[in-house]
Amino acid sequence: MNLLFVCLGNICRSPGAEGVMRHLVAEAGRTDAIHVDSAGTAAYHVGEAPDARMIRAAARRGYDLSDLRARQFTVADFDRFDRILVMDDANYDNVCRLAPTLEAQAKVERLATYAHGHTLDHVPDPYYGGAAGFDLVLDLLEDACTTLLKEI
Ligand code: 4NP
Repeated sequence: MNLLFVCLGNICRSPGAEGVMRHLVAEAGRTDAIHVDSAGTAAYHVGEAPDARMIRAAARRGYDLSDLRARQFTVADFDRFDRILVMDDANYDNVCRLAPTLEAQAKVERLATYAHGHTLDHVPDPYYGGAAGFDLVLDLLEDACTTLLKEI
């Protein structure tokens, strides 16, 4: 099973999701069976480490994001991944626009639908906000990734 998390810049939300899910997968002893990656729909931050605010917020919860580097989502990702989890409606539209087939498009889902302990229908972009936004993102990601992994 190959899982891809997608946001806009691949420096805040989707690397956070990658770190949370890797941690949960390792805890469940499924590292050999479940592969996790992340990407951004935009190329602004390609090659960069995650945002320092996200690295710090994640580190406080025991997730090490410091080795991750941003990359842009490409059409080849539809072949390489079984499930593509996006953070918001703009990500959903941008990824679906690149889908070569209906089967590829059907791989795209909104991650927030798995966050059963929260009422938000998207994972809000924390980039222009304060530190609390990063903690809300991590709360949502932990909630959603726990549910998603149980389902898998
Ligand atoms: P992300 O957050 O999509 O969660 O990585 C953002 C990162 C960068 C920008 C916007 C959102 N930006 O405009 O550069």
